[in-house]
Amino acid sequence: MTVQIAHIGDIHFGGLADIPVIEALERMLPDLRPDAIVIGGDLSQRARHGEFQRGRAFANVARETAPVLVIPGNHDVQWWWRPFIPFGKDVLYRKYRSYFGADLTPTLTLPGGGNGSGGGGGGAVIATALTAHGVAWGSLTPRVRDMAVKGHLPKREMERVRSVFAQADAGLARVLVVHHNVLRGEMSQRMGLARWRRAQRRIIEAGTEVVLCGHDHQESADVLEGKVIVSTAGTLCTRARGGRAVSFNFVTIDPNAVQVTFFRWEAAKQRFQPSDTAAFARSRTLSEALT
Ligand SMILES: [Fe+2]
Repeated sequence: MTVQIAHIGDIHFGGLADIPVIEALERMLPDLRPDAIVIGGDLSQRARHGEFQRGRAFANVARETAPVLVIPGNHDVQWWWRPFIPFGKDVLYRKYRSYFGADLTPTLTLPGGGNGSGGGGGGAVIATALTAHGVAWGSLTPRVRDMAVKGHLPKREMERVRSVFAQADAGLARVLVVHHNVLRGEMSQRMGLARWRRAQRRIIEAGTEVVLCGHDHQESADVLEGKVIVSTAGTLCTRARGGRAVSFNFVTIDPNAVQVTFFRWEAAKQRFQPSDTAAFARSRTLSEALT
């Protein structure tokens, strides 16, 4: 069975939201026939109630089409609370949780095998890891203005993800969703994560096959260390990098390959159109291990 995931990043409800774009996406989601819809963080601009309320309405519309997975991004965290205090971090996520549920790192399993035929591979387990921790020691880098922007991927998060992957059925593709970009942005030349080499190593060691991330506001599809396919979603807000068209990614995982198609906004026609597709063979070693 092929798994198809609509991978949406950085909507930024609030002053930067592009409402006609969002409404067009809401209308087209059923036609895409995704098996899951991933909203990879930064639904809001300032973690305000109204922004989260519109974000929740978007997630509810999406849920009529397919299961929805939502995680918080750095803009969804009330980072100005309790900077550098390792305990009592709950307050950072209180407002987000009141709209999107207590679980900041949900998991979604899409069974393989196809219509009860049993076996046959396919399917996916989609795990999530929290990289948006507000102003935290682990996210600090020499650039002070990055204080509330950079993410980090704690060891305990990836240990949890590793055990989710280890316990999942062997035939399922291992997909990890994080907010911050795990590869350097082509235009921004920026990494989303502090201590990114260690983060990349942890992602590989957890047995991840596909990463879905965002934050950089430029879409891309690439491979980490020749091992992990990385889909980076662009943004749907008015701050697309370099004035480019806004976009979302559509990720297709079949037993042999992963394809990432960029759906870009055509302003003249007021609709999204599929444009280029990047295709990657799934790692032979992983595929053999999984079947
Ligand atoms: Fe972000």
